[in-house]
Amino acid sequence: MVPHRLLKLALALSAASKAFGGPLPKQGDLEDHRGDQAYEPRNANFETGNLEGWQVVQGDAFGNRSVTDSTSYWGGPFHQDQKYFIWGITQAGESAVGELKSSSFRASSVLSFLVGGGYDPDNLYVGLVRDRDNQLLLKQTGTNDEALIRITWDTSKWAGQMVHIVVHDSSTSESWGHINFDDLRVGRRALGNGDGLTFQVIGQANQPPFRNSRACSLYAADPLRPQYHYTPYQGWINDPAGLSQWRGRHHLFSQFHPDSPMWGPMYWSHVVSTDAVHWRELPVALSPAKTSIPGDESGRFTGSAMVHGGELHLVFTDYVDTRAHPGAVQESVAVASSKSGDKFKLSPSNPAIPGPPAGAPVFFRDPKVFHDPTDNSWKMVLGATNGASGQVQLYRGSDPFSWSHIGVMYTGDGSTGAVWECPNFFPVGDKWVLFYGGNGLGLYETGTYNGSVFTSEKRGLVNAGPASYAMQWYKDESGRNLAIDWMGNWPTSKWPTRANGWAGQHSVTRELFLREDGGLGSRPIAELDSLASGPTTKLGPLQVGEQARSIASTNTARVKLSVDLGATSASSFTLALFQSKAESTLLTYEIESRKLTLDTSNAGYGQAGQWDAVLAEPKDNKLTLDIFLDRGILEVFVGDGTVMSATVWPRYRESTGISVIGNKGTLAFGAISVTPLSSSWC
Ligand SMILES: *[C@@H]1O[C@H](CO)[C@@H](O)[C@H](O)[C@H]1NC(C)=O
Ligand SMILES: *[C@@H]1O[C@H](CO)[C@@H](O)[C@H](O)[C@H]1NC(C)=O
Repeated sequence: MVPHRLLKLALALSAASKAFGGPLPKQGDLEDHRGDQAYEPRNANFETGNLEGWQVVQGDAFGNRSVTDSTSYWGGPFHQDQKYFIWGITQAGESAVGELKSSSFRASSVLSFLVGGGYDPDNLYVGLVRDRDNQLLLKQTGTNDEALIRITWDTSKWAGQMVHIVVHDSSTSESWGHINFDDLRVGRRALGNGDGLTFQVIGQANQPPFRNSRACSLYAADPLRPQYHYTPYQGWINDPAGLSQWRGRHHLFSQFHPDSPMWGPMYWSHVVSTDAVHWRELPVALSPAKTSIPGDESGRFTGSAMVHGGELHLVFTDYVDTRAHPGAVQESVAVASSKSGDKFKLSPSNPAIPGPPAGAPVFFRDPKVFHDPTDNSWKMVLGATNGASGQVQLYRGSDPFSWSHIGVMYTGDGSTGAVWECPNFFPVGDKWVLFYGGNGLGLYETGTYNGSVFTSEKRGLVNAGPASYAMQWYKDESGRNLAIDWMGNWPTSKWPTRANGWAGQHSVTRELFLREDGGLGSRPIAELDSLASGPTTKLGPLQVGEQARSIASTNTARVKLSVDLGATSASSFTLALFQSKAESTLLTYEIESRKLTLDTSNAGYGQAGQWDAVLAEPKDNKLTLDIFLDRGILEVFVGDGTVMSATVWPRYRESTGISVIGNKGTLAFGAISVTPLSSSWC
């Protein structure tokens, strides 16, 4: 069932844009209009270094100073075409408004261009306008990133008609109030670089309408869309919440903003699964309180699930925007309950906890309920602060609605953030695991606990890659410690999927365990095997030297490798993923230092950078890697329990290569296997 509110929005979106009826025309079937003035506007890529051929039709946001040859900004490269592009702030700053118009050209069946800058569909967009009646046919806004993303439009409906492009900025915002633009291409050139590389087809106008059809086909049509990692069909998600298994069904709720692919007043989306792999959408579980105050960002923040008295209860942070409600308590704990697990009702006795303990700062969030075997009671940890360091507050409950404060369970040393979010706390063997979000990172500590106070013995990162935050743990009905995290993070500006109307994805379900060194380890759950959509290709035993060896060509698969280090003479090896001649994601292991490095410096539209982890001494001299590729994102699980997750989003359709190369010697693989994976929505 589709929540009514969402369906309405999806229909509105599809009515406002033109969906591709079928596959795009092939490159070879299209005319190459390069240099043909009838088919491409003048100075379509600004390589004259100024606005020659373009007309400023209103305002002062655009002028010759808009054309720049800057190559990078605070978040990385701009990815412009050739040298020059339009950077919307360089003429008159962030808040200036205006409109720029191209010369007229004859529409072909397809066109593409690069867009960057602010997300604001009403006020910041590149538009296709028909000359005859000045009708705005299609438009596309930015993604709140300076870097440029290629948008492709099917314009076959208007082929042959005279049209022009407008670059429109009516945003006076001092934050993301500008739009960037470059390289309009018409006809065959719109689809690729002419060197064997084709652009991913991205853009809200290309999205099939939702029409309550199965997410399976909707998601298959979006080249940025992970196929078996949870994503919302539209809008924004962050923290997973309410993770639980009850009466056989796994429940995954998420912090959710349905109205745009941006954070906003928080709802809880809800999906269920019988195997924690294949998900089905249920109606939105929680919605913000009705408000008539403009800009009121009050909503239902992160929380957890508790099975009690034959019902499933959601115990969560009720967040009140104190700018809209002066004097209110910013964060309290509230409860919603369900007899069926499908529809949730707010408890009439809310709030369950009216606010932070007396005298404590207002920051008091993300209640996580657990059953405490030390005194056989329900307990709850909450993220808090003492002003200088993150803290965990501990409560005891007799039922979901009544909690008493025990005290501060643990205070950090200040180095892991001044405030902590999303704490989780549970026993594994004779140790206790605490993990939380601090400094924008997911951190864990392992140690001991006496029923009221935690003592830390070891600390580390929950995930060594860049795309992980707000992990939530739950114990399933078979007693396993499972977890899912948000494969996103606050510091990144890389949300290219906003161009397709959604943002945010969750990890695959993992099982948590204590590593041999006492740290927290992750491994994929066995149920993920059910995603296999075809036979596994097996290679090996195999020797690979300093000549790259191709392993496979796929971007939706599971790749398992086992390297026999005893028989390896190479000093390091590099595995390339999502590889084409233009880009690749590199995973390098240095044998002596045991350092594994993930390098996405030239990999795609996602976060660019390098992240590394020092692995444990491989057992029996065998290093094993278990890698999940899902369209544009990846998760790497190492045999020792290390995990690295990243969002990459290659720019080209051909970036599906997987190859390996040994450096300074040969590399002995015991086995390599590649298993194609299918959608978790089919
Ligand atoms: C940009 O510079 C060119 C060359 O000097 C000039 O002809 C044109 O009028 C200028 N355009 C704008 C919008 O200022
Ligand atoms: C747990 O340890 C703390 C700190 O040492 C102590 O104050 C508290 O009394 C202990 N609680 C129990 C139940 O032993």
